[in-house]
Amino acid sequence: MWRRVALLSSLISHSKPSMHNQGPCTFKIWESFTSQSEVVTPSKAAPFITFVLGGPGSGKGTQCAKIVEAFGFTHVSAGDLLRREIASNSAYGSVILSTIREGKIVPSQVTVQLILKEMESSDNCKFLIDGFPRSEENRKAFEQVIGAEPDVVLFFDCPEQEMVKRVLNRNQGRVDDNIETIKKRLEVFDELNWPIVNYYTQRGKLHRINAVGTVDEIFEKVRPIFSALRSEVVERVRVMVVDRELDS
Ligand code: ADP
Ligand code: C5P
Ligand code: MG
Repeated sequence: MWRRVALLSSLISHSKPSMHNQGPCTFKIWESFTSQSEVVTPSKAAPFITFVLGGPGSGKGTQCAKIVEAFGFTHVSAGDLLRREIASNSAYGSVILSTIREGKIVPSQVTVQLILKEMESSDNCKFLIDGFPRSEENRKAFEQVIGAEPDVVLFFDCPEQEMVKRVLNRNQGRVDDNIETIKKRLEVFDELNWPIVNYYTQRGKLHRINAVGTVDEIFEKVRPIFSALRSEVVERVRVMVVDRELDS
């Protein structure tokens, strides 16, 4: 008990809540959530999860970098994890590569496992899951494995013409940044994205952000969302740190 009190007092001694520098937060994701059959509400000692939605080139990765810098989240990009899997010549590498080339969606169990592994290897307890979910199947698989929903969902809403322009200028040597694959990715996005947007809108979690403008202009629409959540995030991190301390 003394440890809980000592830890609490050291945490609440900060006069202004800060999302930074709250100490390591190693945890087992599986144990962090209540997982009673159909319950999908995060327990208090669960990581704070933000899903980041948007079409190809809508600026998800760019804005995530700004959120990391300003609010200390850990950025987990589903696409980056899949590309890392290809580069590491893993068992799934060739299937992932051909799926990405075709602009299609990799089976959810592969992507969810990669995301979980990445989260568990982090000391942080607040995450941006970028480019996920891409489909209802993705969303359900995440909820089933984790037993919880995200706390917040950002949707970067960008006109197709602008997305195509940005992707063609990205210049990162990606196998899918060519006009043929972009067309397929946009079709897949248009087919699979809206049910996810509707689902999280109904649950009051979705923030739709107009993704046209400069990077800084768009971030000024993102910033207030996280500023308003500051106390909630700080409290969640505090509970997780206490939980971890009591477990150790
Ligand atoms: P996503 O992760 O959604 O595919 P990125 O963040 O990788 O998108 O952005 C795609 C490309 O567009 C990158 O080259 C990036 O530098 C550029 N970009 C991002 N945001 C903007 C913006 N607001 N205006 C112009 N170009 C942008
Ligand atoms: O988000 P990003 O543009 O990096 O994704 C690149 C590709 O990775 C997608 O077009 C898709 O083929 C694959 N992907 C996926 N499932 C996700 C995220 C990305 O299959 N959840
Ligand atoms: Mg990206």
